[in-house]
Amino acid sequence: MEIRKTQVAMPVLLAIMTLMASQVVFAGKFPDSMALHDRQMAEMQALKASLVRRNLPALVSPPPTPPQAVPGPRVYKVISYGADPTGKSDSTEAILKALEDAFDGPEHGPLIAGINDLGGARIDLEGGSYLISRPLRFPSAGVGNLLISGGTLRASDDFPVDKYLIELKDEASKLQYIFEYITFRDLLIDCNYRGGAIAVINSLRTSIDNCYITRFGNTNGILVQSGHETYIRNTFLGQHITAGGDRGERNFTGTAVNLMGNDNAVTDTVIFSAAIGVMISGQANLLSGVHCYNKATGFGGTGIYLRLPGLTQNRIVNSYMDYTGIIAEDPVQLQISGTFFLGDAFILLKSMSGVVKGINIVDNMFSGSGNGVPIVKLDESRKAFHDVDQVVVDRNSVNGMAMKSTVAKGSVDGNGTSWTVDFNPVLLFPNLIKHVQYTLVADGFPVHALRNVSGNRVMVETNAPVTATVYVTVDQ
Ligand SMILES: *[C@@H]1O[C@H](CO)[C@@H](O)[C@H](O)[C@H]1NC(C)=O
Ligand SMILES: *[C@@H]1O[C@H](CO)[C@@H](O)[C@H](O)[C@H]1NC(C)=O
Ligand SMILES: *[C@@H]1O[C@H](CO)[C@@H](O)[C@H](O)[C@H]1NC(C)=O
Repeated sequence: MEIRKTQVAMPVLLAIMTLMASQVVFAGKFPDSMALHDRQMAEMQALKASLVRRNLPALVSPPPTPPQAVPGPRVYKVISYGADPTGKSDSTEAILKALEDAFDGPEHGPLIAGINDLGGARIDLEGGSYLISRPLRFPSAGVGNLLISGGTLRASDDFPVDKYLIELKDEASKLQYIFEYITFRDLLIDCNYRGGAIAVINSLRTSIDNCYITRFGNTNGILVQSGHETYIRNTFLGQHITAGGDRGERNFTGTAVNLMGNDNAVTDTVIFSAAIGVMISGQANLLSGVHCYNKATGFGGTGIYLRLPGLTQNRIVNSYMDYTGIIAEDPVQLQISGTFFLGDAFILLKSMSGVVKGINIVDNMFSGSGNGVPIVKLDESRKAFHDVDQVVVDRNSVNGMAMKSTVAKGSVDGNGTSWTVDFNPVLLFPNLIKHVQYTLVADGFPVHALRNVSGNRVMVETNAPVTATVYVTVDQ
């Protein structure tokens, strides 16, 4: 329909534009010294001649450029679709219609296979607050380059508890990735304890930016499953609206962000209540600038839970674990650095089948209440860690907690034949010393040797009694 309208309109438009252009061109061709009337006559005749000679054929033959859809704004304003910005009446149908229209919008170019590029179309919530009773979804998979922004969505009292207010989802699609480059920006999503806020399933390059996600039920605030590169940034998530020290903190449930996929990032994001801040079960995710004060470890909460035993490959950097810690199951390749742990928050390495490899827990700050809580703990209740390799816990600054490390130095003075340095208070793994170096500084020249490292106790002996100091460096 639109195309046919355009085909008629274009030649007329062209002719008018040419007329205007001709007037400009011919106006300059005749000297100012000509009498005004003569000049005008000359211009008119030149124009008439040009129309007859050159431009008339353009009116009958189609324009050389291929017809295009009507140009115009691709901003789908939900109020014009009947959405109620006061949040009183249900706006689900209206917003779904706006999504449908955007979905049917003209194609602009190639995105990944099967995805129509909507050219930057925008669903504009126009600063309203809308009541939603079932998930907002596109009619099917297959669009990209679209923004949804600028308002509030609130779940109704009968919103299904197992759904999300916005779902990038299509169970029937056979596409490798079902959406690409969809952006959610400047949205407050209030789940009314009825479900989750945003589900991103098998999508590519999704942005969730400057959103406030709250009152999710005992589910996820944001769920990311399969696909890759969902970037959650500058966002606030909390099941309950609180600023910490909440009386109901023990009762917080749910998970603020659940990353069940690879290559995602959560950056500059605050998680202010939920039983679990970020649950991760996919590799190659990056958490940076994440502040977790969701539910204190003392109340059974977890800031970040890495549930990918055997192959972790995640990085947590420059973050802030505030009374709530990190749990990693059988971690293999994990970086935790530049992070501030406050209020006895600690890292728990939980043995599932006893593997821990390629871990760097370095350059963090820990601060606690002086009750001797270790900065890193092992949970070997299921099985002892037996496969330990390249685990570096070192260079952390510790205040009011018990230092734990995989690298340690110690010394002992004595007069006799045996010197023992006990590294148990500081070494992370019990009974594991892989490398030892020692120096014996004595008042004579005794024969001496390293005799035993069992139980994290390094013993050096001399063949004759001497007064000596033994300096020892070990690592696990
Ligand atoms: C927490 O939950 C329990 C059991 O549902 C309830 O009895 C208690 O009042 C709740 N506490 C707060 C502070 O909300
Ligand atoms: C070291 O011990 C021996 C006896 O075992 C003693 O004679 C000697 O004075 C001691 N040396 C020092 C410096 O305490
Ligand atoms: C090393 O010390 C442990 C515990 O103190 C002991 O059981 C073990 O026999 C010692 N090993 C040797 C080679 O002396």
